[in-house]
Amino acid sequence: MKVIANWKMHGFKDDYLHWYKNLSKTADENLFDDLGIAPPFTLLDECKIHQSKIKLGAQNISHLPEGPVTGEISAAMIKNSGADFVILGHSERRELHTETEEAIKSKILEASNHNIHPVLCIGEPKEIYVAKKTEDFLYSQLQGSLNDLNNINLSIAYEPIWAIGTGDVAKPSDINKIHSIIKEICSREFDVKLENIIYGGSVNDQNSKEIFEQEHVNGALIGGASLDGHSFGRIANNFFEIHNG
Ligand code: PGA
Repeated sequence: MKVIANWKMHGFKDDYLHWYKNLSKTADENLFDDLGIAPPFTLLDECKIHQSKIKLGAQNISHLPEGPVTGEISAAMIKNSGADFVILGHSERRELHTETEEAIKSKILEASNHNIHPVLCIGEPKEIYVAKKTEDFLYSQLQGSLNDLNNINLSIAYEPIWAIGTGDVAKPSDINKIHSIIKEICSREFDVKLENIIYGGSVNDQNSKEIFEQEHVNGALIGGASLDGHSFGRIANNFFEIHNG
């Protein structure tokens, strides 16, 4: 999946159906293979019942396979609820749940072992961006979570923290450059197959076209603008126009 809706902590039963109806009114269902939705855990089953071609994902998993870990959800459990992918290392989790690179690495392994595609999020805070140290920062995030892993198939979401939920989207040409650097680091340093590299941070139906036009942008991870089916559909249309047109 290349264009992913990250619902974060939003959504109740029946919301998916309503969202899907609006999405289908706006975008062509035949093209939904490239779309993904990551609702809260509580809605995975609901989404699965009404399953379409849209890939289903979770927003996190435990770094442990099973056991006495109150409040956690394992890779096997989300697989059992029909998930195809999982978002890992989102900056909100790194920040609010002090998630370490080591834990993220274990989560990538857990996901892979259960045939769930990991979408690893990386991205720099504002002060690093301002100091022009983004490349070093991303390199160390990648080192921390990919070093020592073997033969892993994954996608990466580049999400500058200062762009998430702020309306302050990164410049498309900068996104393109950073994506090409990430690709280069991955192929040089790690035993991973990078399926897609997608951008996240204030993507909406107005700015997505120019972002999707960039050579090294394979898609987007969308928070706020993905909650409304029509809005997500318009972003999907911008993607399809460039990649299937
Ligand atoms: P946003 O969130 O689109 O609301 O900026 C993106 C994300 O956090 O994945």
